[in-house]
Amino acid sequence: MLSNRLKSIAGLIKKEDKVMDIGCDHALLGIYLVKNKSLEKIVVSDINQKALNNALKNIKKYKLQDKIDARLSDGISIIDQNINTVIISGLGTNTIIKILSHPNLTQINKLIIQSNNDHYLLRKYLVLKEYYITHESIVYDKGHYYINIVFEKGNRKYTFKELMYGPFLIYANKDYFKFLLKKKRAVLENIPKYKIATIINHKKEEIFLKRLSK
Ligand SMILES: C[S@@+](CC[C@H](N)C(=O)[O-])C[C@H]1O[C@@H](n2cnc3c(N)ncnc32)[C@H](O)[C@@H]1O
Repeated sequence: MLSNRLKSIAGLIKKEDKVMDIGCDHALLGIYLVKNKSLEKIVVSDINQKALNNALKNIKKYKLQDKIDARLSDGISIIDQNINTVIISGLGTNTIIKILSHPNLTQINKLIIQSNNDHYLLRKYLVLKEYYITHESIVYDKGHYYINIVFEKGNRKYTFKELMYGPFLIYANKDYFKFLLKKKRAVLENIPKYKIATIINHKKEEIFLKRLSK
């Protein structure tokens, strides 16, 4: 059974999207997309031969070799010309940025990203690359919160707070902000008392998160 986390990504794919799932690991998302979203074809890729072998094993198990093209690849350098949608999930923002820093990015109209960390840097980077945010959602799965962000081609200006907390999320999910507030308070407790400037910065964010969580 596919996790809630990956199912929430599948929900963001349209039948007509030409998809590549980068860092596919087991390829379970690709398999689900072909079986449940009627995608005719999908490319899945992984940099790691062991992970790709797992993907190939699963694809064979479901007899989907003609619909799922699994490749050993470090990102978008070998992307097919017809691919217009990229999924990247379960990786950190620095690796995601490394993957996307390639001239082939220009052919991608839609990026569905579930990064493990630093959503501010991710939003900032892709806004600079002339994408804007068309969807954001939070998924709770096995004790963790995950953030899905969909970027599409186009220009929009965002405030610092929108880049930091998400232009959609900032108005949406109080539970998520309660969770962030708890984390912020734990951080604050561990800052040495003499680091006054750091404490002030974190306190400012604490006040903002408190407001968002009410
Ligand atoms: C934690 S798994 C996530 C798998 C799946 N996307 C998910 O969300 O469950 C990350 C996968 O990305 C692969 N990976 C890491 N860097 C990569 C890169 N530059 N290009 C392609 N795959 C990469 C790893 O080998 C690993 O299989």
